[in-house]
Amino acid sequence: MTTDSELIVEVNDLRKTYTQDGKDLEVLKGVTLRIEKGEMLSIVGKSGAGKSTLLHLIGTLDRPSSGRLRLSGRNTEGMTGGELALLRNELIGFVFQFHHLLPEFTAIENVMMPGIIRGLPRAALEASAKELLDRVNLGHRATHRPSEMSGGEQQRVALARALSMRPKLLLADEPTGNLDTENSAHMNELFSKLNRELGTTMVIVTHNERLAEQMPRVITMKDGQIEKDERKRASVYREDIDRIARDAALPEGDEAPKDEPSEPAVTASGEAAGEGREDAP
Ligand SMILES: Nc1ncnc2c1ncn2[C@@H]1O[C@H](COP(=O)(O)OP(=O)(O)OP(=O)(O)O)[C@@H](O)[C@H]1O
Ligand SMILES: [Mg+2]
Repeated sequence: MTTDSELIVEVNDLRKTYTQDGKDLEVLKGVTLRIEKGEMLSIVGKSGAGKSTLLHLIGTLDRPSSGRLRLSGRNTEGMTGGELALLRNELIGFVFQFHHLLPEFTAIENVMMPGIIRGLPRAALEASAKELLDRVNLGHRATHRPSEMSGGEQQRVALARALSMRPKLLLADEPTGNLDTENSAHMNELFSKLNRELGTTMVIVTHNERLAEQMPRVITMKDGQIEKDERKRASVYREDIDRIARDAALPEGDEAPKDEPSEPAVTASGEAAGEGREDAP
């Protein structure tokens, strides 16, 4: 039984209307959604369906026209810009399609940057950034500048940076959008691994069917509304993750997940992937 305190995101009848050339354009038409701590889910849907708009509203980067948003139990309605910024800093990490790394800084400095901006002690930041770079298999690229890294490596640095303040909630918008298939697969594996290892709640907007397919929960948006909200059985999901980890030729320093599944693996019975989606118990 879920208690409210376990909900990290609570969205209630959220609406967003833009005014364009004197005409109102409603792009979110009443979205209601609850996300529990530690969940990992993807948001899919056609271009223009409202995925990014919803993600921006959840991330408090933009305000809804109406409806309620609670983050970690706190009602964001009526908060000032400053209060929202504090809440964001404390709670949320963002990853976007284009990573926006600072070109004149090294990988490790980019990861340390959110902490440097907050004036945190450098030694601790460096140790923590090093550890995160190791987690995204880039320990050996710590002193490289963005121009000295591949696109996939840069995106992994951006992921490490988004996690540097250990946010409870990671919001990602098309994080594999500009990566090739192999690098996308590595990113996918990393999201799963970090979700397990750090317990970070992850909401990932994607057009990447493979990424969506391996998620334990998939929300499909259509015309500003949630069309479907599907959950996969945990056991089936873990089997997918193991398969994807095996399929992806992991780069240097990568390892298959060490965590044992908390449920026995599903045998090749009627529970095979594809039939596995159902409402969570
Ligand atoms: N600032 C804005 N002013 C007016 N209309 C906007 C604005 N931002 C987005 N829209 C419109 O809102 C709709 C939803 O946009 P949104 O960016 O959320 O779509 P999306 O699902 O993320 O699409 P994509 O997959 O292409 O990224 C689109 O039709 C878009 O044109
Ligand atoms: Mg978008």
